[in-house]
Amino acid sequence: MYETICSPLNYGGLVLKNRVIFAPTSMGLPQEEQAAYYKRLAAGGAAMIIVGDVPVLPSKFGPSLYSKKGFAYYKALADAVHSEGGKICAQLHQSDSDLKAMLKYIPGVLTKRISMEELRPLLNQQVGPYITGLPVEKIHKITEAFGTAAELAVKAGFDMVQVHGDRMCGSFSSEVFNQRTDAYGGSATNRARFAVEAVSAVRRHLPDIPIDYKLAVRQENPHYGNAGVLEEELPVFVPLLEGAGVTSFHVTLANHGELSDTIPPRNHPEFGAEGCFLKFCDQVRKLTHCPICGVGGLTDPDFIEEQLRSGRIDCVAMSRQLIADPAWAQKVQEGRTSEIRRCVRCNKECLGGMMAHRGVHCIYDRKENQ
Ligand SMILES: Cc1cc2nc3c(=O)[nH]c(=O)nc-3n(C[C@H](O)[C@H](O)[C@H](O)COP(=O)(O)O)c2cc1C
Ligand code: SF4
Repeated sequence: MYETICSPLNYGGLVLKNRVIFAPTSMGLPQEEQAAYYKRLAAGGAAMIIVGDVPVLPSKFGPSLYSKKGFAYYKALADAVHSEGGKICAQLHQSDSDLKAMLKYIPGVLTKRISMEELRPLLNQQVGPYITGLPVEKIHKITEAFGTAAELAVKAGFDMVQVHGDRMCGSFSSEVFNQRTDAYGGSATNRARFAVEAVSAVRRHLPDIPIDYKLAVRQENPHYGNAGVLEEELPVFVPLLEGAGVTSFHVTLANHGELSDTIPPRNHPEFGAEGCFLKFCDQVRKLTHCPICGVGGLTDPDFIEEQLRSGRIDCVAMSRQLIADPAWAQKVQEGRTSEIRRCVRCNKECLGGMMAHRGVHCIYDRKENQ
């Protein structure tokens, strides 16, 4: 009944055992718990796990591929996933937050005068000036680091990399933030240059690696998403990215609006429906023969099977549904869909847990522990 979900896929050169991917999800769990969590997901049948927000430059905030300890951490994640027959992909990212500009808010955050919700828009205000003023030498250092980090990720055991097309790639792509007047700003081709150079660096360092690109799309009427690629500009960006070495696209709504737009709850006015961002996949489909991964509000096996069977998308990435039930894929494969714990898109313990710094969990975990 779910033949397509359960069938293998050549995802830009990497063979996945089925069509189910764990979407990049920063979990905020202690490092020892993270490997066990991914192992559980792989054992539950997910073909590939994308590790969210792996920094491309040496970083003191969280694990870094460049330090001995950080490298060992990422290797432990890869080993855990491989031990259950899964594949693992590193989401390579560069933040677009201006660290120096952030410093002035630290006292307010520490004294709780500024909440995390209030901090976000304050940081967003700094993105435009930061991107617009970034020196070209710094740009070259960052784009080259995508290649170096990809090489380290593969050494640590990762099977694939995803270039995070939101964050710095996304803010360079967007006219909302990018007001540069040099070769990195102005026309859509120029605004694509940063992302294209990042992908090219990965390709130069690793000629054969499959490169996924998280293509963050923003829309007008109504306006959603501030970073990323405007719908009308996809015909410029997609061929340029593919030409640089991208082998698959992971398509979603662009960031830097409300987090609840990119991680929409069921009652969201625009993106409340199952498969809420698939309309962006339809646009990308017209522009490339590369495989396309859909993400966003996907929970229902029947709906997903239909999207895959019709060829609308080639695979699905899920974050919250696999948080709610890490054994989703296995239950689908075994015809036990009535046993699936369905994500109700309440955002209470997953996004809520992340925002409150208590780690990503699910309302079902609470019930289980009662
Ligand atoms: C707690 C949480 C953390 C996330 N962290 C990341 C991340 O690190 N990188 C990223 O690109 N997307 C991140 N996302 C977005 C997801 O990858 C996904 O696009 C979004 O949740 C919509 O899919 P869903 O409806 O299956 O949850 C996160 C989502 C959640 C819920
Ligand atoms: S708390 Fe659980 S059920 Fe609610 S949205 Fe998050 S993953 Fe889904």
